[in-house]
Parts: sequence; C-alpha cells; structure tokens
Amino acid sequence: HRPPLIDPFARAVTYLRISVTDRCDFRCNYCMAEHMTFLPKQELLSFEEIDRIASAFIARGVRKLRLTGGEPLVRRNIMALIRTLSRHLDGGGLQELTLTTNGSQLARFADELAACGVRRINVSLDTLDPVKFRAITRWGDLGKVMAGIDAAQAAGLKVKINAVALKGVNEDEIDDLLVWSHGRGMDLTLIETMPMGEIEADRTDQYLPLSLVRARLAARWTLEDIDYRTGGPARYVQVAETGGRLGFITPLTHNFCESCNRVRLTCTGTLFMCLGQEDAADLRTPVRASEGDELLHQAIDEAIGRKPKGHDFVIDRRTRRPGVGRHMSVTGG
Ligand code: GTP
Ligand code: 5AD
Ligand code: SF4
Repeated sequence: HRPPLIDPFARAVTYLRISVTDRCDFRCNYCMAEHMTFLPKQELLSFEEIDRIASAFIARGVRKLRLTGGEPLVRRNIMALIRTLSRHLDGGGLQELTLTTNGSQLARFADELAACGVRRINVSLDTLDPVKFRAITRWGDLGKVMAGIDAAQAAGLKVKINAVALKGVNEDEIDDLLVWSHGRGMDLTLIETMPMGEIEADRTDQYLPLSLVRARLAARWTLEDIDYRTGGPARYVQVAETGGRLGFITPLTHNFCESCNRVRLTCTGTLFMCLGQEDAADLRTPVRASEGDELLHQAIDEAIGRKPKGHDFVIDRRTRRPGVGRHMSVTGG
C-alpha cells in the first residue's frame, strides 16, 4: 500500500486532469493564437502510458480524472482510452471520470461516453449568438455544439456550461446564458480569463472581474450562497428565480489555491503542479525507463513535494505580456 499524496501545504491531491492533446478544432481568441505550432504526434504519450500514470495516481488516492485538451475528443481513437480508464470506476478506486470539451464532437460520442460510466461533462460555451461564436472561436459552428449538447443530455449525461466572461464580448449575454442553461437543467459556471500564452489580443482588454458580474447579476436575480462543491474551484450560488446553480471561478479576484486538490498532466507526460506556475516534472522518462512503477512513484512524490502554494497571475503592466508563457491548451484549464 502506498501513501496518499499530500503536498507541503497539507493539501491532499485527489484530482488529476489529463490533457490528451494540445490540438483543438477551434481557436478561441483568448486561448490560442490563430496560427499555433502543435506538438508532433510522436511526442504524445501512448494510451498505455497515460493509463499507467493514471493508475499510479489512483493508487495514491486520486479519485477524480478529467480529460482535457486542447479538445480531448479530437485525439484519435479517444474512446479506447476512455474505455480503458473506465475500468478504474466501480470499486477500482476512481469515483469520477469526466471531461471538459468544446462540444463540437459530442453528437458522435455522447452515447459511448455514457456507456463508459461518464456521468457528467463540462461544455465550454461563451455565447449563444452564432456570429459571435464564430468570432470567438475563429471558425467554430455553434449549431454543432448545440447538437452535441442535445445528444449529451439525451444520453443521460449531466452537462455543465463553462463560460469565460469577456469584457465587451459576452458581458451583455450573461443573463441569456443563465436563463438558457438553467432552462435546460444545466449549471452555468463563469470563469475569469487568465493571462496565459501569447495571443493576438491584449489580455488586459478582455479581462472582466467576476466581482463586477456578480454585482450586476445580484441586481436582477436572487443569488443564494450554497455550499455545493464538485471538487473543482467554483463557488456556487443558487438562483432563486430559476432554481439553477451558478458557479464563479475567480482566479484573479478571489484566490482559491488554499483548497487546491489537483495537478495536471500534459499530453507529453509533463506534470504541472499549478495552472498558474511554470514548475513541472517529467513523468514520461520514468514511465519509459522501466516496466515497473517504482521510478514513476518516486517522480510523483518528488513533484508533489514541490507543489507551489498558489498561482499569481499577472499581466506585466509595462510589456503587457502574460505571466505564464504556455497556452491554456497545454494544461487544459
Ligand atoms: P467541476 O468538476 O465541474 O468542478 O470542474 P472543474 O472546474 O474542476 O473543471 P473545468 O474543466 O470545468 O474547469 C473550468 C475552468 O476553471 C478551467 O478551464 C480553468 O479555467 C479553471 N480552473 C480549474 N482548475 C483551476 C485551478 O486549479 N486554478 C486556476 N487558476 N483555474 C482553474
Ligand atoms: N482563461 C480562462 N479560461 C480559459 N479557457 C481557455 N483559455 C482560458 C483563459 N485564458 C477555458 C475554456 C474552457 C477551458 C478548457 O479553459 O473556455 O472552459
Ligand atoms: Fe479549443 Fe477550448 Fe482553447 Fe477554445 S478554449 S481553442 S475550444 S481548447
């Protein structure tokens, strides 16, 4: 029996996010530059390697796995990986296997996901306006995402909508998103945009503090604090008029690092201990070095032993460059 993963600040790591690809079929303008250089496919961890790493983490107390990207559903043969990982559910130690997706491929995969024991998925959607959607994603088709959400709900998956709050882009649409999500029985979570990676736009132009959004919403809706938690960083309120839940993810206005329970694996086997820091550990080398998992566990222990206290997202006021150089799509949010 191996000990659980406890970091230097006494936080237990129980949640592993696995980015299975850095690629995406969209190019959301706050997330990526229009022309991105993606990793060559031979750099990627194989599904066997991902499963070995996931298994090692589950043996150390990880209870929740979330696949991310880029867009996880564009990785070739992704359902084979999800099927493999699903055997850790139901007594295998894993309590939740889930993903965060842009929804574009969901119509194709919803039934299979449900059959693999996925219960709940998060779909990223920042606007209900097809023209705006195309402008944000650069070429995404809102109709496909809507069909994906329909299919997911029809398959019995619980869907949560994640929207990044963007100044001058969707700030006038938050009420519509709320009414629409809650009307379909979906929770809505708003996210503050984080300065990660070089994009064409100026990060400071897009940033909208959720404290402001919340104050605006509170003028129209009755927001009741509730202690509903999903294991993620969102703080939820219940909207009395709709009966639905609204979450706020506030990395800039209200730091939640104190209760951080997660680490992130990239598609090349690099472990990031914090979304907003550059410290990382290489898990691919120990996985490839031997058939046994001893070296892997050592590398994991070493990494957890230097999990930082928290993120500090800053936009350099002089250069206006993001504090974290890598794009969000490398570590999947
Ligand atoms: P639930 O399981 O539904 O609670 O999801 P989650 O919030 O854990 O995962 P999701 O992929 O929906 O995360 C939404 C967004 O929250 C991510 O894309 C990030 O933008 C942000 N986020 C998640 N975890 C962290 C974190 O540890 N630090 C920071 N700064 N942001 C995070
Ligand atoms: N800040 C906050 N969230 C971001 N996402 C992508 N880039 C950023 C950013 N700079 C979100 C997406 C999606 C998740 C995968 O990450 O909208 O919800
Ligand atoms: Fe793709 Fe998600 Fe980034 Fe948009 S936010 S480009 S959908 S990874």
